Amino acid sequence: MLRNDQLAEWDRAHFFHPSTHLGQFARGEMNDRIITSGKGVHITDRNGVTHLDAFAGLYCVNVGYGRPEIADAIAAQAKELAYYHAYVGHGTEASITLSKMIIARAPKHMSRVYFGLSGSDANETNIKLVWYYNNVLGRPQKKKIISRWRGYHGSGLMTGSLTGLELFHKQFDLPLPQVIHTEAPYYFRRPDLAMSEEQFSAYCAEQLEALIAKEGADTIAAFIGEPVLGTGGLVPPPQGYWEAIQKVLRAHDILLIADEVVTGFGRLGSMFGSEHYGMKPDMITIAKGLTSAYAPLSGSIVSADMWKVLEEGTDKFGPIGHGWTYSAHPICAAAGVANLELIDKLGLVANAGKTGAYLNAKMHEAVGSHAHVGEVRGEGLLCAVEFIEDRETRRFFDPSRKIGPAVAAALLKRGVIARAMPQGDIMGFAPPLCLTPAEADTIVGAMAEAVKEVLG
Ligand SMILES: Cc1ncc(COP(=O)(O)O)c(C=O)c1O
Repeated sequence: MLRNDQLAEWDRAHFFHPSTHLGQFARGEMNDRIITSGKGVHITDRNGVTHLDAFAGLYCVNVGYGRPEIADAIAAQAKELAYYHAYVGHGTEASITLSKMIIARAPKHMSRVYFGLSGSDANETNIKLVWYYNNVLGRPQKKKIISRWRGYHGSGLMTGSLTGLELFHKQFDLPLPQVIHTEAPYYFRRPDLAMSEEQFSAYCAEQLEALIAKEGADTIAAFIGEPVLGTGGLVPPPQGYWEAIQKVLRAHDILLIADEVVTGFGRLGSMFGSEHYGMKPDMITIAKGLTSAYAPLSGSIVSADMWKVLEEGTDKFGPIGHGWTYSAHPICAAAGVANLELIDKLGLVANAGKTGAYLNAKMHEAVGSHAHVGEVRGEGLLCAVEFIEDRETRRFFDPSRKIGPAVAAALLKRGVIARAMPQGDIMGFAPPLCLTPAEADTIVGAMAEAVKEVLG
């Protein structure tokens, strides 16, 4: 075991951390964040300090930390066969079994799953397949992708472009020209306070219709959206939103990609967000909850209709030229099988619905009437508290005051990890799906004190 001070020094000197203020980190101006173990909803750092992780890592450790069932499955697979590729029709028992389990859980019209390693690469795959699909259908000009402002779809070149958050574009020369953005389904930030939820949904659909008219429907291939906006603020859609949007997409023959990286496998209290909101996507992106992050694995699920066209494409053009070395990696697939079995065995989808409703109700009770809380919102085990300077006029805090990060720091002091969402003063909670009501009480109790400390 290395001496702790030496580890921190190596960290500052050699490790390029993602989504980090590089200068502050290298200069040692940030708190020590070296994590050593986890059990259930708790993680422990190298100083022996334990926190309740109310964001499940990056909303991915859905079954909770330290599950021996998954660790054992990974070890057994590594001993038996650590790797073989999936090109040219190769498979392993784990990857074949997992694909069957995924399709059995997905909406009925879905057909096949292509495996990747991250939500970002799965969305890259989706866009390539959408382009390929339109080429096979003989409409090479139908290629643009519509995404929403505040959507999050990854941080690659294409997926960073799909992401509708300023932080992920600025200084990276993004978004790419094939990507266009439309209104975020963010009722709390609607342009006219007099609008009902249904009216705001109709407004979002009109905005989409206008964008399609401006660009030309024959140039637009697909629309991508998360069932619930995630990193953009944990925002459930307003009443009637998906119905109104899907009507527009169908009228213009535009494919729908449901990015279920966060919502897939139970977070909303349903197996998929698509079921939860009556969406009928052509493709579904999965990652995080597929393995509960015990190993990196993602997937692009395609519908039966889309699959037919893809098959036709390879009959015409030969084998599909898209593959990753680690597609369907057997160790990750074994983790996926054990994880999905555990989700069923522990009833975690139902628990996310039940304990999620409890967490949201308690959060509402505890901080909902505070003068600087504009909204408490959520669905399943997603919960957000949005801060505001003036409730009456709906004036937001100046971002330079960093209210969100201050509340996150106050929570951390009280033993709870939550996430200050990157755009707006929004505290996000997305705990493991095994959360108990007593643990929900701990989160809410800490939040009430943290809000009082920062905002009085
Ligand atoms: C909805 C959604 N899509 C895609 C991604 C990207 O996944 P990854 O970070 O695994 O590339 C994320 C990550 O948070 C996400 O929330």
